Amino acid sequence: MAIIKLTINGVERTIEAEPDMPLLWALRDLLSMTGTKYGCGIGECGACTVLVDGDPMQSCLLPVSEAVGKAIVTIEGLSTEIGRALQQAWIDEDVSQCGYCQPGQLLSATALLTRKPRPTDSDIDEAMNSNLCRCGTYPRIRLAIKRVSRGIAQ
Ligand code: FES
Ligand code: FES
Repeated sequence: MAIIKLTINGVERTIEAEPDMPLLWALRDLLSMTGTKYGCGIGECGACTVLVDGDPMQSCLLPVSEAVGKAIVTIEGLSTEIGRALQQAWIDEDVSQCGYCQPGQLLSATALLTRKPRPTDSDIDEAMNSNLCRCGTYPRIRLAIKRVSRGIAQ
């Protein structure tokens, strides 16, 4: 076990964990931050996506030791202008069905629009293709991203 300090949603958190513990388990089991979801545990579904220094990463594959010194953002702390606009667009477009994949979807969409405010359809497909949705909300996710993109472009 090691004492590990993580910066999550702008707050320093200290945990005691094995250095190779996946960040997902640290978030959910040690810090009770259950907004980040466990889907497959093998990097295939994107349900566990968080932002690490602005990039979407699958927290089921990221050892906590590799997250030290980096800015981690989870769905609980998604409060940038783009992140808030996307959450509103998700409501306006009625995106969610069961909702299980949506925290990861929102974080990937935030990374996309932060990097590229006017994405093409293929940009959206490429940026979102690591986030699976068993409910098939892909068309509404695209509409919501475009809704925010239009707002940014005005
Ligand atoms: S739970 Fe991490 S990619 Fe599926
Ligand atoms: S909304 Fe159900 S898995 Fe995506």
